[in-house]
Amino acid sequence: MASPTAAGDLRFLLVGVLVVMVVGSRLVRRADGGGIPTTLEGPFAPATLAFDRALRQGSDDVPLTDPRLAPRARPPAPEQIALAASSDATSVWVSWITGAAQVGSHLTPLDPSAVRSEVWYGESPSPTASAGDISGHYPHVERGKAEVYSQLYPYPGLLNYTSGVIHHVRLRGLRPVTRYYYRCGDSSVHGGAGLSDELSFETLPSSSSCSAAYPRRVAVVGDLGLTGNSTSTVEHLARNDPSLVVVVGDMAYANQYRTTGGRGAPCFSCSFPDAPLRESYQPRWDGWGRFMEPLTSRIPMMVIEGNHEIEPQGQGGVVTFASYMSRFAVPSEESGSNTKFYYSFNAGGIHFIMLGAYVDYNRTGAQYSWLEKDLRKIDRRATPWVVAAWHPPWYNSYSSHYQEFECMRQAMEGLLYQHGVDIVLSGHVHAYERMNRVFNYTLDPCGPVYITIGDGGNIEKIDIDHADDPGKCPGPGDNHPEIGGVCHLNFTSGPAKGKFCWEKQPDWSAFRESSFGHGILEVVNSTYALWTWHRNQDAYGDDSVGDQIYVVRQPDKCLLQTTRASSDKNNCPSQGCPSLVSNSGSGAQKDMIRSGHLIWNASLVIWMILISTVFLKGNPCSNF
Ligand SMILES: [Fe+2]
Repeated sequence: MASPTAAGDLRFLLVGVLVVMVVGSRLVRRADGGGIPTTLEGPFAPATLAFDRALRQGSDDVPLTDPRLAPRARPPAPEQIALAASSDATSVWVSWITGAAQVGSHLTPLDPSAVRSEVWYGESPSPTASAGDISGHYPHVERGKAEVYSQLYPYPGLLNYTSGVIHHVRLRGLRPVTRYYYRCGDSSVHGGAGLSDELSFETLPSSSSCSAAYPRRVAVVGDLGLTGNSTSTVEHLARNDPSLVVVVGDMAYANQYRTTGGRGAPCFSCSFPDAPLRESYQPRWDGWGRFMEPLTSRIPMMVIEGNHEIEPQGQGGVVTFASYMSRFAVPSEESGSNTKFYYSFNAGGIHFIMLGAYVDYNRTGAQYSWLEKDLRKIDRRATPWVVAAWHPPWYNSYSSHYQEFECMRQAMEGLLYQHGVDIVLSGHVHAYERMNRVFNYTLDPCGPVYITIGDGGNIEKIDIDHADDPGKCPGPGDNHPEIGGVCHLNFTSGPAKGKFCWEKQPDWSAFRESSFGHGILEVVNSTYALWTWHRNQDAYGDDSVGDQIYVVRQPDKCLLQTTRASSDKNNCPSQGCPSLVSNSGSGAQKDMIRSGHLIWNASLVIWMILISTVFLKGNPCSNF
């Protein structure tokens, strides 16, 4: 028989659980209000909003002579200042460029060791921020590293380039959700001329199992470029006041400025049939960095490489991704990847995984191995949400890039599914599309919500053809990736069984529209997140949006469930789908999943006890 004390404790615990359930249900109701659909109501009947022919399908590149693309500081002060998140809220990367880039045939690369890489910063603005001597005006200074890169074409007629000095400094020991004031540059230059004006940024929330907090708004944009449409997208995105910007690849389109884009040519080979290599005009990157600076000098921007970042150079194009690798700081070392091709980071209660589609993604490769480790390390109490992003979409019903990265899907989809990835963001296709929850081309309530948002506004125009439109199904020779294999498949079940394309919008495609725009992700709590797609043509301030839905997690139902990548749901070609088959057959993985269930169930019980204790006794975690 329980003692009176034990019975009292039990009542105490039950009251706590009841309070948590009531509070939790109220939170859910609040998030669910307003008539906005939730993924719980899905799968939705596929819907298409046809391209509005009254709109421009594309627009011209903004010329490099445009004032918005001019340096925003006088040399030797820093320009193209950009922030990036590190692995968590206590650290931020600051990047900038000093010195002049050179273009031509006779280049002298700058010496990166000739100029300091410093960031002076503190939690208060400096009253003498514009004065020359800043020592003593900021409590902290961090120093970093600098580099230059060159883009070289050993062929007559093509322009060579060498960059200014690119600086990267990592600030550490920051407090979450705190505004910091900073100046970057070289304080040894007389009169403070080597330093930026004072700028500021706010750190992201911490990722703590004690108190779930989320970034205010995460802006997502893809295939941005630098056209008239791109500038509208960035303007609209900035008006939404994000606390983090995620760019899902294809940033500057430097490789098209002097060739197809700048000349209005339909394709590179049409205009340059004898060119040994596609020239990428690197000053375009500098123009892009200057255009983005008002946004990126105050809000962290996270990037992942797209095909327009490949930029082959040198004899035969053996050197690639030089600009991407040099210009951007990403938390690759902090996240254990040690390569900028893929990495991860936490933004409050969201764990972001940025994957590389143009580097080995197979099960035997380094990226897959890193991804397995990264997924295994995630603490879903600290980061309930897992959002993955890479450039080319796996699920795509447009003709453009249809099934282009099917090999990557076959290699990695099972792993992401097993670990309950909630949302996947991609670009590459220049249009918008949101998928129903899907796994292995089959509707699945525990599959991620895939979203294609490659409609940033680049020079290549909007994509309007669907693979299910009459005569628009791509042929076997179409849509081969620049890097990686081809795994096109015919569907093995459903209405498109035996065919390469559906004859109507596929059931996994919930909504698609060909308009330029950007997305905003607002996580409400550990199970509700609001996703909104903003079209550029919509007026701001009247609550007009292109697409909006609450993505709802169901961790009790879905997290770490045994993969259903069994043969009865397998849509792989007749020769099989090695990744998915082997995933379902792996004893070690099954053990891991079984132990995951136990851990999850145990953690639920512990969690409830902790929360009830918190509510009734007071605890540092009482804001949970
Ligand atoms: Fe792309």
